[in-house]
Amino acid sequence: MTMKSFGDEDTIFEDMDVLNPNEQTYQPEALPEREVELDQIHSALRPATMGSTPLNLIVYGQSGQGKTVGIRLKTNQLQEYANEADMDLTVVHVRCKGMGSSYHVLTNLVKRLREKRFGPGEELPSGHQRKTLLNMVIQNLEEIEGTIIIVLDEIDAIGDDDYILYELPRSNPDGVRLSLIGITNDLQFRENLDADVRSSLGEDEVRFEPYDANQLRDILARRAAGALRDTSFNDGIEDYRHLQSGVLTDDTIPLAAALGAQDTGDARAAIRLLFRAARFADDAGETIVTEDHVRKARDFLETKAIESGIQTLPNQRMLALMAVTFHAVNSDAPVSTTPIYTQYKSFCEYENVNILSNRRFRDRLNDLADTNILNKQQGRGRGEENKYTLAVDLETALENLPKESARLGDVAEILREKDSAQTR
Ligand SMILES: Nc1ncnc2c1ncn2[C@@H]1O[C@H](COP(=O)(O)OP(=O)(O)OP(=O)(O)O)[C@@H](O)[C@H]1O
Ligand SMILES: [Mg+2]
Repeated sequence: MTMKSFGDEDTIFEDMDVLNPNEQTYQPEALPEREVELDQIHSALRPATMGSTPLNLIVYGQSGQGKTVGIRLKTNQLQEYANEADMDLTVVHVRCKGMGSSYHVLTNLVKRLREKRFGPGEELPSGHQRKTLLNMVIQNLEEIEGTIIIVLDEIDAIGDDDYILYELPRSNPDGVRLSLIGITNDLQFRENLDADVRSSLGEDEVRFEPYDANQLRDILARRAAGALRDTSFNDGIEDYRHLQSGVLTDDTIPLAAALGAQDTGDARAAIRLLFRAARFADDAGETIVTEDHVRKARDFLETKAIESGIQTLPNQRMLALMAVTFHAVNSDAPVSTTPIYTQYKSFCEYENVNILSNRRFRDRLNDLADTNILNKQQGRGRGEENKYTLAVDLETALENLPKESARLGDVAEILREKDSAQTR
């Protein structure tokens, strides 16, 4: 067998990046489905062009709704205007994901503001009090001057620690017209904000409603037209009905859009699905992306999501899964809660982890069923217990349990050994 060579393969792609769901790789130039929301953002930013302070803004809506991209489009547009009009404007975009507290966001903000002043390569400040960091932020803002917009994206990452959201809007740096934009996909986070924070940060609020299947078709059509060969719009009208393609069957985009709309109208999920389907076709040297490729892509992405779901389970849920896996190694039959709980307790003792009450343990089992890692069989009559089985292959479960050297890895290893001793 010879290895494939790069560069001499036929491809259905013209510009693969356009179908890449990663925001860093491709940024759409327009969001026609978000005209209303973009106008609302426009209205909050517009005071900047009149020498006034842009309004603080909360942007919220579920995942994959164009919030990040929408804010980027409008702030970039304002930046272009500012450059031409010789207006002093600075926009800082901080992605808070993974920063579990105001403290972390403040350190990153100091770094980003310094980079605006001195160029890339600034270090994260360390060893300071929260209050000191806030002062460092204010000091840097005062050095930068003019109109400054700070975008705090995925701000729900800070959890209950809303110090930065409380203090920053009140900080009043000298010589600065400061505006904050908070973006969140955690609707509960917005509800739970302290009333003071909510009123100062949310001078304006923009809500991104989930896309419907028709909107997703249009979004996919535009991305496909940019990414795929022999795929373009009739009469220059950029909607799905005007798309012509020699590479896609008639059902491909509608199916990807329908599957994407099923959960939460998530554009990222729909784009990811079509991208994966097109790659499956292209990698196999096929010239047409069909419905079958989309279904295969769906199965592939679902399995991948479940695998990473297993890998990142918190301890108690991991132990609950391991207890079910223990029984699954013996037999495929659904197992009642009590024997699962018994096994769970012995694993907890082995790993020196505190043991949950029976009731809380059952909640963990139900969490696993809700995320499609376990199947649940509701107990029928009075007093009959629920039964559980793995919703994934035994192999998949065993492979994605912790590695031998990791936390809870010893129990995982016992299960893997038990399985290999079993039959083969
Ligand atoms: N109307 C649209 N047209 C074209 N592409 C879109 C549209 N809306 C979203 N996208 C694309 O979908 C992906 C997700 O969008 P975005 O990152 O803005 O979502 P988000 O609302 O910020 O989600 P999250 O809350 O998960 O961060 C991006 O690749 C973006 O380019
Ligand atoms: Mg986002």
